[in-house]
This record gives sequence, C-alpha cells and structure tokens, in this order.
Amino acid sequence: MQKKIILLPGDGIGPEVMDAAKKVLDAIASQFNHTFTFLSHDIGGVAVDNHGTPLPEETVIACKQADAVLLGAVGGPKWDQLPSHLRPEKGLLGIRKALDLFANLRPVKGFEKLLHASPLKEEVINGSDLLIVRELTGGLYFGTPSERRDNGNAVVDTLTYTKSEIERIVDKAFQSAQLRSKHLTSVDKANVLESSKLWREIVEAKKVDYPDVTVEHVLVDAAAMKLITNPSQFDVIVTENMFGDILSDEASVLTGSLGMLPSASLAADGVGLYEPAHGSAPDIAGLGIANPLAMVLSAALMLRHSLQLEDEAKLIEKAVVAIIDQGYHTADLQVLDGQKVNTTEMTNLIVDYIKAQKG
Ligand code: NAD
Ligand code: IPM
Ligand code: MN
Repeated sequence: MQKKIILLPGDGIGPEVMDAAKKVLDAIASQFNHTFTFLSHDIGGVAVDNHGTPLPEETVIACKQADAVLLGAVGGPKWDQLPSHLRPEKGLLGIRKALDLFANLRPVKGFEKLLHASPLKEEVINGSDLLIVRELTGGLYFGTPSERRDNGNAVVDTLTYTKSEIERIVDKAFQSAQLRSKHLTSVDKANVLESSKLWREIVEAKKVDYPDVTVEHVLVDAAAMKLITNPSQFDVIVTENMFGDILSDEASVLTGSLGMLPSASLAADGVGLYEPAHGSAPDIAGLGIANPLAMVLSAALMLRHSLQLEDEAKLIEKAVVAIIDQGYHTADLQVLDGQKVNTTEMTNLIVDYIKAQKG
C-alpha cells in the first residue's frame, strides 16, 4: 500500500518526537511491505520564522492533498510576545479549521506497569479506560475576534456554537461509545452557560437514536473532580473545546505523564490529523529526553483511522506495552525501578521490537 503522509514537526520537542514517529512508521512499512512517503512542512513558530506566518498556504494545500497528517507541537517563549494573529498556536487552530477537524479523540488508558507512576493511588486508576471526545473547531477559541476595548481596560472573548456543530460531535461520541462500553458522559456547564443548555438539549434529543448507549450529564467542575477520584466510572466523555482541552491534560495524570497521551483530530470526511495532547515542552526541548510515546501512539491512531491499517496500528501499540512492561521509561515518568532511557533509545526499542515480529 502506498500512502502520502505530511509531517508538521513544529517547535520545541515537536521535531524530536516526530523523528521517533517517522522511524516507527518506517519500521512498520518495511515489516508490512507498505510505502509511506513523508513530506515535511512548516507550522507554528518555525513557520513564523521561515515564512512570516504560523500557517503558510502551502502547508494547508499539502495537508489537503495527503492521506494523513502528523503534527508534533507548536509554540514556545520565542514567539509568546507576538500579536495574536502571528502566534504559533494560531497556526494550529488554523489547520484544524482549514481541515474541518471537529472531532478530537483522546484515549486515556493507564499502563499496568506504570500504575505506580501516577501521583494517584493505584487502586483509584486501576481499570480506568476512557475516551475524551473533544469538540475542536468551535467555542471560545474560535469566537468573533477577541479584542481589548476601553483603552485596554476591557476584553472580549465570545463563545459560539451552532446546533449542527454540536450535533456532529455528539453523534461522533455516541458512535464511539457504541464501539466501546456504551456509556456516554456529556460534560457541560448547563447551570450557567446558554451554549451548555443547548448542548444538553441536543444530547437528550440524540439519545433516542442510540438506545444501546446509557447517557449521563455531569457539570464540568464535578467532572474534573470525578476524573481523578473515580476515573473508571467513565467510558466516553463528550465536551466542548475548552473543557475538553483542560480535562484531557488532567486525565493524562492517569497514565503517569502528559507525554503518553495521543490524539486523533478527524473531519466528517477528508484528511485526518494526528497529534499528541502535549505541547512543545520548552523546558526540555533540545535535551533529547522527551517522551516520544504520545507521538508514536498518535501515529498508530493514524494507521487505524485514516489508513485502515488495523494490524499495523495494533503492532505499534503492542510494542509500546511490551517495552514499558520491560521496565523502560523516559524521565517524565516518576517510576521507582526499571531503566530510564532517552528519546532515541526509547524509539530504537520500539523499532527493534517491531522488526523482530514476523511480517
Ligand atoms: P506542555 O504540554 O508543552 O508541557 C507541560 C509539561 O509537560 C512540561 O513540564 C513538559 O516538559 C512536560 N511534557 C509535555 N510533553 C512531554 C513529553 N512528550 N515528554 C516529556 N515531558 C513532556 O505545555 P506548556 O508548557 O503549558 O506549553 C508549552 C508550549 O506548548 C506553549 O507555547 C503552548 O501554547 C504550546 N502547546 C502546544 C500544543 C500543541 O501544539 N498541540 C499543546 C499544548 C501546548
Ligand atoms: C492542545 C493545545 C492547544 C489547544 C493550544 C496550543 C491551542 O493545548 O492541543 O491541547 O488548546 O487546543
Ligand atoms: Mn491542551
């Protein structure tokens, strides 16, 4: 099988973890006799430096013509003082919008061997396995241009959702629940926000179409608490853009590190983009110690969702579990024993495991 994959390494640790994902995909390609063609393009701070914009038009065009897109991370202190429209993060929001990537799937599953690496008690996280379905192209991040008024003494951010925007993400979440344990938790702030009231009405209206799925509504503040006190009560969580952003970083604590959390950003049809949930980690960029597993597991999601290569995706996931089970971990995991490795060593362990399997 021949596939064209666009790589958007971005900034900070983005290029370091992207290099890892590419090596793992090369190993998968040789093992299964596929041809993956990789083309790199600029996004984020590096694109500001090279092209004067965080999202060059050629990057958007290349992504639209690809079979799938992998993104590392964007942002960093070098670009933090730029005006809003030039910030690296605007490039990320822009590509999500340009590709209509309304559904961000963030699976969160603790690894047996790493249960003790979480600051949470092992008995609390044991058995937790959830999927956050985050709306990705609406809400506060995409309001009518945010601005300062009254000589800087007032600010405006707007939160807009249309019925159809909510309906499509809610449908996606119900369908995801049908493929899992058939329980959907819709997270909102319906006791205060008008957008959340509409959100809740739509979830209630949609549930008749999915009678096999049980549904509950939880307010976002309580959801934040329940996520770390009793995470195994969740199967699929569906929520709006910013709540999903915050809750998914919180949920990463179940896995021991933000460096373990992959994600898939999907459109109704059209190209999908796969990105770790973490950022560019400026505090460790360039040190060669970043955890590549969130990016590598995002590549597995790409094989599954965009390229329909389920066996190949499973092999990457099996390799990750096997290497973790052998006690290997990067420095971000607070592990008591085992062997601490750097980004390259972790990548090579995964690659060698894949190459040792029969094709
Ligand atoms: P961050 O996710 O970059 O880092 C938070 C903490 O987690 C840091 O201590 C970092 O070292 C650690 N961490 C994250 N990923 C890791 C990995 N793979 N391995 C080891 N440790 C890891 O969040 P931040 O520090 O708040 O943001 C830094 C920059 O990244 C900002 O410019 C922000 O806007 C940007 N950001 C980008 C994305 C993205 O591109 N998708 C996501 C979040 C933040
Ligand atoms: C993420 C990030 C982004 C978001 C930022 C960098 C715009 O935090 O992918 O989770 O909030 O969506
Ligand atoms: Mn985030």
